[in-house]
Amino acid sequence: MRWILFFGAFIGPSICGREKFFGDQVFRINVRNEDEINKLTQLVNSENFMLNFFKHPSTFGRTVDVLVPAVSLQPVKSFLKSQDLEYSVTIDDLQALLDDEDEEMQQNEGKERSGDDFNYGAYHSLEAIYREMDSMATDYPDLVSRVKIGYSFENRPLYVLKFSTGAGERRPAIWLNAGIHSREWISQATGIWTARKIVSDHKKDPAITSILEKMDIFLLPVANPDGYVYTQTKNRFWRKTRSQNLGSRCIGTDPNRNWNASFAGEGASDNPCSEVYHGPHANSEVEVKSVVDFIQKHGDFKCFIDLHSYSQLLMYPYGYTVNMVPDAEELDTVARHAAKALASLSGTKYQVGPTCTTVYPASGSSIDWAYDNGIKYAFTFELRDTGHYGFLLPANQIIPTAEETWLGLKTIMEHVRDHLY
Ligand SMILES: *[C@@H]1O[C@H](CO)[C@@H](O)[C@H](O)[C@H]1NC(C)=O
Ligand SMILES: [Zn+2]
Repeated sequence: MRWILFFGAFIGPSICGREKFFGDQVFRINVRNEDEINKLTQLVNSENFMLNFFKHPSTFGRTVDVLVPAVSLQPVKSFLKSQDLEYSVTIDDLQALLDDEDEEMQQNEGKERSGDDFNYGAYHSLEAIYREMDSMATDYPDLVSRVKIGYSFENRPLYVLKFSTGAGERRPAIWLNAGIHSREWISQATGIWTARKIVSDHKKDPAITSILEKMDIFLLPVANPDGYVYTQTKNRFWRKTRSQNLGSRCIGTDPNRNWNASFAGEGASDNPCSEVYHGPHANSEVEVKSVVDFIQKHGDFKCFIDLHSYSQLLMYPYGYTVNMVPDAEELDTVARHAAKALASLSGTKYQVGPTCTTVYPASGSSIDWAYDNGIKYAFTFELRDTGHYGFLLPANQIIPTAEETWLGLKTIMEHVRDHLY
């Protein structure tokens, strides 16, 4: 045992201190009606079971995914039986999946340290992603620059890649956001893959070439770097920022409930211990504020796309109300075309609709803020999968996911290019 720990210090200190999930499982609960949602609320509000909801109960969704710690397996099963709630075990050995993911990541980082190129089919540390961003900017100085838009709560730089053929002239722009929820690793991985795709397809693929003739693209691959580091060093399932909350022992705010769009409304919590805590005020999170300031200062963003996982959904505003946005018809059409393009690669099916009625009400979200601030083409992707692996999507699905997502992104960006306003 001692030897293993000692050895562990050499292959990477990161995993050794990370929280273990021995014996923990992920349950999928099928929700058939309103009555069953109400029964589940007891489970959601019960702190004794120490549950972590990956996918929340909602009026419209039919399934709930929840991480159940080993000590709570029996009591939770009894509760579900007593309430006549249907469930299955989707991940029966959570720690085994985490170990596989760790091992693969460590092996890959070893290879890259000894000279291999950045492997887009692997998950990476923040440093590795930042280094790759830097090398793209160095290799393609006429197309790419790395812009620092601020610092995270723990003082890590927030880096954006700017793709521009405009030689300094201000052009209408597209914002691509990834990794705002740190545990959704396929999002950051798709983000950095997309950056490489843009540089390698520019002047080869007429679609991206013509998009870049009219517009600039700004891509933020790790919107919540503190959270991302935390998922690799302390707890793989961390979602929020790492900011301190006055008067509470709980850390972090949900950065996708922190935007100034019906702030602190429905679908957000005022409890700092909640996974959907909205924070003390709009833009309280420096990671959110930095993006808001940058976009407002620029003043000509036409499109804002936020990449999340998981569930395979493509959504547009609003999340804070069931009311339709004035542009709902157009956004719905664009999203359907994008989902169709995405599916054309390998059949991955996406559901399309407004956030509020497709998943659940959510106030203070990025795309609602974007839309209400004049950025009409605002979309959220929930990437693969539908819950089989959930947040632990194996690395061999990174490239297939990124490739199909690219077809969806391109469809949206082409529409924006042809409908500048
Ligand atoms: C939020 O937006 C409103 C206008 O809708 C504005 O009056 C207010 O100052 C904004 N708050 C922050 C924190 O930016
Ligand atoms: Zn998310």
